[in-house]
Amino acid sequence: MPRGITLRDPLLLASGCCGYGEEYAELVDPASHGGVITKAVSPEPRAGNPTPRLCETPAGLLNCIGLQNPGVEAFAAEIMPRLTARGTSFIVNAVGHSPEEFARVVARVEQVLASDPACAPRLSAEGVNTGLCGYELDLSCPNVESGTLFATDETVLARTVELGRRETERLLVAKLSPNVTDIVPFARCAREAGADAVTIANTFNGVSIDIATRQSNLARPSAGLSGPAIRAATLYHVWRCHRALPELPILGSGGITDADSAVQFLLAGATALQLGTGLFLNPRLVPEIQAGLSAYLDAQAEPDLRAIIGTYRDQG
Ligand SMILES: Cc1cc2nc3c(=O)[nH]c(=O)nc-3n(C[C@H](O)[C@H](O)[C@H](O)COP(=O)(O)O)c2cc1C
Repeated sequence: MPRGITLRDPLLLASGCCGYGEEYAELVDPASHGGVITKAVSPEPRAGNPTPRLCETPAGLLNCIGLQNPGVEAFAAEIMPRLTARGTSFIVNAVGHSPEEFARVVARVEQVLASDPACAPRLSAEGVNTGLCGYELDLSCPNVESGTLFATDETVLARTVELGRRETERLLVAKLSPNVTDIVPFARCAREAGADAVTIANTFNGVSIDIATRQSNLARPSAGLSGPAIRAATLYHVWRCHRALPELPILGSGGITDADSAVQFLLAGATALQLGTGLFLNPRLVPEIQAGLSAYLDAQAEPDLRAIIGTYRDQG
């Protein structure tokens, strides 16, 4: 990870797919994976969208949760100290209605870090960063009004990243939208505005219609598609971004459901991986992918995962 952050493992739990990581801790030890990217945190509490908010598709999941969360004050006062005490490495997924609101979340968390010793990030005996490790700006949620605008308008994207950057010296990741023809200009824009890394990517826009009522199967007319259905398309964006901007660290997110797909993202150029919908299909996904990655390295006689990043033989 950039900014000198050392995580235990390149596998992270994607935002929104395991709350704040506490529920999932009952199934898989937080000390066994890279860390948790929290559910979105906004300046004020948000109720999210009405139900139904989830709908299965043949190879994926549509969701329109709508960034439900208790707001930054409750997060900082109640959730952050618990995660820190537990020794979880976590990244705060920040959202807002404007660039200034994103920055407010980052600024408020930084204030609490400076004033509350219970929230101070730590370094474990093995040299792993625990507690808060940085921020992921969710520039790309399709489930709120103008959600993707932050990631598909370069002026707004640059301003959001710049304002967030002013508030913190820690790791700052820009989570991009896959709903673009070419992701490279947006990744470049995020980097030039001060992002240390990009997450590629959030969910794709999707629709599911009840043919009897001719209405949406969800509470909104469209929603965000995740899971195996988006894997190949997300992988395309990762590959394109890595080829154009090889120095920019990429967190791959989109349809990783087994070791094979995890390896594909690394070969395409991702330096860390986020597990989302795959966790709903298989709660034991983390240890299974870890075992599969080790087996792959052995079979390919590679020393470590770093050695395979970006080694997709796209020239034949
Ligand atoms: C139920 C659900 C809630 C999500 N909530 C958020 C969120 O709050 N913030 C965010 O940046 N991404 C959110 N996402 C997107 C995921 O973090 C991830 O980027 C996306 O689902 C693609 O990865 P996957 O195919 O492995 O699920 C959510 C996804 C799902 C399925």
